[in-house]
Amino acid sequence: MSSLQLDAVPLSPAQTSEELCSIFKRCRDDDTTKLRLKYNPWYHTIEKQMGSRVIVDGREMIMLSSNDYLGLTNHPKVLEAGKKALDRWGSSTTGSRLANGSRRYHIDLETKLAEFLGKEDCHVSTAGYLSCMSAVATYASKGDLILVDRNVHSSLWCGITQTGAKVERFSHNSPEDLANILQFEQKETPKILVIEGVYSMEGHIATIPEFLEVIKYQNCFVVVDDAHGVGVLGHGGRGTVDHLGVTESVDIITGSLSKALSSTGGFVAGSKEVIEFLRTHSKQTIFSAGISPCQAACAEAALDILQSEPEHLERLWENTRFYKALLAELNLDTWNSETAAVPIVLGNKEKTYRMWHSLMEKGIFSVMAVSPGVIPGKDMIRTSISARHTREDLEIIAEALTDIAKKL
Ligand SMILES: Cc1ncc(COP(=O)(O)O)c(C=O)c1O
Repeated sequence: MSSLQLDAVPLSPAQTSEELCSIFKRCRDDDTTKLRLKYNPWYHTIEKQMGSRVIVDGREMIMLSSNDYLGLTNHPKVLEAGKKALDRWGSSTTGSRLANGSRRYHIDLETKLAEFLGKEDCHVSTAGYLSCMSAVATYASKGDLILVDRNVHSSLWCGITQTGAKVERFSHNSPEDLANILQFEQKETPKILVIEGVYSMEGHIATIPEFLEVIKYQNCFVVVDDAHGVGVLGHGGRGTVDHLGVTESVDIITGSLSKALSSTGGFVAGSKEVIEFLRTHSKQTIFSAGISPCQAACAEAALDILQSEPEHLERLWENTRFYKALLAELNLDTWNSETAAVPIVLGNKEKTYRMWHSLMEKGIFSVMAVSPGVIPGKDMIRTSISARHTREDLEIIAEALTDIAKKL
C-alpha cells in the first residue's frame, strides 16, 4: 500500500471524511447559522416582483428595503437595453478585461460614467464590492497610512486588509477626530482617506469639505465610496461629491451599479493616470471577468434616464420626506438619516427582531441589521425609500408602523 493510500484511510471505519474534517464540524456547530436558520430573518426568496410589491411565501408585500432608489429596475428602457445587449453580445464575456473580456460596450459605459461623475476615466467591474475593495487595495501599500471612518462598508475594510498599510480609524463622520489623529503622524507619510459619500446603514452624508480641510498639505489621497449617493444626491443624481461641490478634490469615486443604477456591478472613477494604474495593478480587475453585456447595458440606460427623466429623482425625495415625517411623528429613531437610506434604530436584537417580525406579519418586507453587522447598540431595521413607492404604499406602511410603535 502506498503512503498516499495510507493517508486516505479513516481513523475509524464508521467515520466518514465529513465527520473527521474540522471545517465540516465548524460549519455544523456554528451557533450564528443555527440561530439564523431558527428565526429565519434573512435570505427570503422573492417569487415575483411588481413595482414596489413583491410576493414572498405566496403573500403580497410592500418592499421597504430595496436599494432600487429610483425604481428603474423594471423601466421599459432599461429592460429593452438589457435585452438588446444580450442579443448583440451574448450572455457573458467569459474572461478578464485584461485578457479576452474587454468589449466596446465596457468602454461606452465607462466613458459615460466618467463624464457623469466629472472624472477623466472610470473602470467598471462585476460587483460594487470588488470595485470598492480595489479602490483601496490598489493604491495603498506597506508604509502608507490609511485613515478610515469606523463605519465604512465591508468592501472597503476588505480592501484595507489587502494592503499591509498602517490603519487609523476615526469616529464616524468626525473631521475633529481625524485632526486629532493626524497631529501624531508625519506629514510626508503617504496617506489614503477612506470614507463613504452616503453611509449605507445610517443614511448620513459625509462631511467631505471639512475632511478635505483637515487633510490639506497632508500628502493624502481621497477615496469616496458613493454606492448610496450616486443617483440620489447631486445635480441629476451625480452623487454626494457633486452635491457638496468637491468633485475636483476627491481623487477616487467608487460605488455600485446595483442600487440607483438598477443593474449589478461596480465602478472606480478618477483621473486617467490613477485608473490606468488600477488597470495595471488591481487583482480584482486583472483576475476577474468583465461585466456582462446585459448588466452594462442596463446601467447605461439608467444613466440616460437619470438625465432625461428627472421625475424619478424628484419622486424619490418627495417620498423620502413623507416617510421621514411619519417616523418623526412616531418618535422613531432614524439616527438623523439625511437620505433615502433610513434606519429605524431600536438598540437591541430582541426589539429589532420583534419589529421586523411584526412588519412581515403586516405585509411589509424589511431587513434587520444587528451587531456585529452594525455597531453595538445600533441594532436596526434598515429601510429604504424608492421613487416607486406609491402614496398608497406609504400610507399602509404608516398604519403598520403606528400600530407597531405603540407596542414597542
Ligand atoms: C457602501 C457600499 N459599498 C459597496 C457595496 C457593494 O456593492 P454591490 O452590492 O454592488 O457589490 C455596498 C452594497 O451593499 C454598499 O452599501
